[in-house]
Amino acid sequence: MTATTERLRMTGIVKRFPGTVALDGVELSVRPGEVHCLLGENGAGKSTLMKILAGSYRPDEGTILLDGQPYAPATPHAGLAAGIAVIYQELDLLPDLTVAQNLLLGRAPRLGPFVRRGQRAKLARAALDRVGATFPVTARVGDLPIAAQQLTAIAKALTADARVIVMDEPSATLGESELLAVFEVIRSLTAEGRSVIFISHRMDEVMEIGDRATVLRDGRAVGVHDLASTGPDELVAAMIGEAGELVGATDRPAPKGEPLLRVERAHVPGLLDVRDLDVRPGEVVGLAGLGGAGRTTLLRALFGDLKAQVDARLDGRPLKVTSPAAAVRAGLALVPESRKEQGLMLGLSVSRNAAVGALGRPPWLLPGRTGRRLTAPALADLGVKASGPGQLVGQLSGGNQQKVVLAKWITRGGIRVLLLDEPTRGLDVGAKADLYRQVRHLADQGVAVLLASSELNELTANADRIEVLYEGRNVAHFDPRVSPENVIAHTVITGAAP
Ligand SMILES: Nc1ncnc2c1ncn2[C@@H]1O[C@H](COP(=O)(O)OP(=O)(O)OP(=O)(O)O)[C@@H](O)[C@H]1O
Ligand SMILES: [Mg+2]
Repeated sequence: MTATTERLRMTGIVKRFPGTVALDGVELSVRPGEVHCLLGENGAGKSTLMKILAGSYRPDEGTILLDGQPYAPATPHAGLAAGIAVIYQELDLLPDLTVAQNLLLGRAPRLGPFVRRGQRAKLARAALDRVGATFPVTARVGDLPIAAQQLTAIAKALTADARVIVMDEPSATLGESELLAVFEVIRSLTAEGRSVIFISHRMDEVMEIGDRATVLRDGRAVGVHDLASTGPDELVAAMIGEAGELVGATDRPAPKGEPLLRVERAHVPGLLDVRDLDVRPGEVVGLAGLGGAGRTTLLRALFGDLKAQVDARLDGRPLKVTSPAAAVRAGLALVPESRKEQGLMLGLSVSRNAAVGALGRPPWLLPGRTGRRLTAPALADLGVKASGPGQLVGQLSGGNQQKVVLAKWITRGGIRVLLLDEPTRGLDVGAKADLYRQVRHLADQGVAVLLASSELNELTANADRIEVLYEGRNVAHFDPRVSPENVIAHTVITGAAP
C-alpha cells in the first residue's frame, strides 16, 4: 500500500501495565478524509491506543507511520506538533483558566512578551462558533457544565490545525443537539481531508457518522468493517463475541400499591415545574425528553443538589431535603450524569471507592479486607474489569470507573429511592445489560427508581412507566408494555412540540 492512501498506520502496538496487557499487538489503519470508528467493550484498549497515538504513553512494542513517515512522539506536545489532536474521555482542560486561555494554551498570539488578548479572544470565538458553542470565551472552564467543557476541548483541537483528530466518546458528555453540532464539525473536517477517529458505544452514532470501524477485543484488533455494508448487530456481535440484546425487564407485572415517593410539585423558576409524579416501591419510572427538558434538574432538585421548591412525600411523610447529605440520610441516592462529579477517588483502590459510605466511615479508615469482602458481590455482578480489587480507580477504563460508582451505591445499602441520570453512558452493550439487571434487582427489593435516559429504547425495555418531560414540565406518561412506540413521546423527543 502506498503512503498516499493511508493517513495513519499503527502496527503491532503492545502496551503492558503491571498486571495487565492493555494492548497486545494492535493494528490500525486510517485513510485521509475518513471517519474511522474505534469500537470495543469497556477496557478493550481504545483509550490506551489513542494515548499512544497522542504521545501520552510510549508503546512497549510497535511502530506508527503518519502519512508514510515514521512517527514516535515523546510527549503530547510533540504529537500535537505532528498534527495529532486528541480529545480525551477525561477532559484535560485547566479548570481555573478561561476558555480562550485553554483554547490557545502555549500558542497565544503575542507581541513581544505580551499576549494579544483581543486577537486571542477573536481566534477563540471563531473556534467556539465552529462547534456551535454560544458561551463566552471569557468564562472560567471550571464553571462551565460538562457538555460545554467537552465543546471547548473539541474547539481546542480545531485551533491546532491537526491532520488526525481523535474524539474519545464525546457522546458520553454531550447532549443530543450538541452532538449534532459536533457531527457537522466532523463532516467539515473530513471534507478538508482530515481524518477523524471516533470512539463511541452507541451504534446509532457509529452508523451515522462512520466510514469504517476497527473493533478491539482484549487488546487486539479483531476486525475492520466497512460501515456501508455492516449492520449494527454485526458490530455488536464482533465486539462482545455474541449477539447483543437490550435486556427486557418489562416482561413482569407492573408494581401496584401506594407510592413510596410522591412528588406533588418540584419547581425551579424558569427551569422546572413537574407535578404529580409518583414512584411505587419496586417501580422503575423512566424520564424521557430532549436535552434541557429538565430531567437532570428534576433529579438534582429531589436530591437537594440545587435550590428548588420541592413538595414531596416519602412513604406518606413529608420529605424535607435541604442538601445531598440530608437526602442520603432520608434514603435517597443519586448517580449523576457526569463521571467527573461522581466523587471517585482516583488515587484509591477499586474496593475502597466502592465501599465508601457502606460502614459510615471514611474509606481510608476501612480495613482493606473488610472493604474487599463488602464490595466483591457488587463489583462482580457489574463485571468491573480490573486487575484486582486493589487496583487504583484512576487506572480503570472510563466505563469501568462508571461501574464502580454504581457498585458504591449498591454496596451502601439502605437505599429507598434511587435516582439515576444517564447511568449507561459510556458503558458497552454487555455492561448496560448488567446495569439494568442490578437496577431490577434493587427494585425487586422494594427500591423506587427514577431513571433518566436519552435512549428511548433502553427506557422502553426497562421502565415500568415512562414520564415525558418537555421544557421543564411532565407533559405525558405511558406504559411501555402497552404502547412501546408511544406517539406523544416520539414527537416530544424528536423535537416537535406536544
Ligand atoms: N495507567 C494505567 N495503569 C494500569 N492499567 C491501565 C492504565 N490505563 C489503562 N489500564 C488498563 O488497560 C486496559 C484498557 O483500558 P482502556 O482505558 O484503554 O479501555 P477502553 O477501551 O478505553 O474502555 P472504555 O470503553 O471503558 O473507556 C484496562 O484493563 C485498564 O484497566
Ligand atoms: Mg476509554
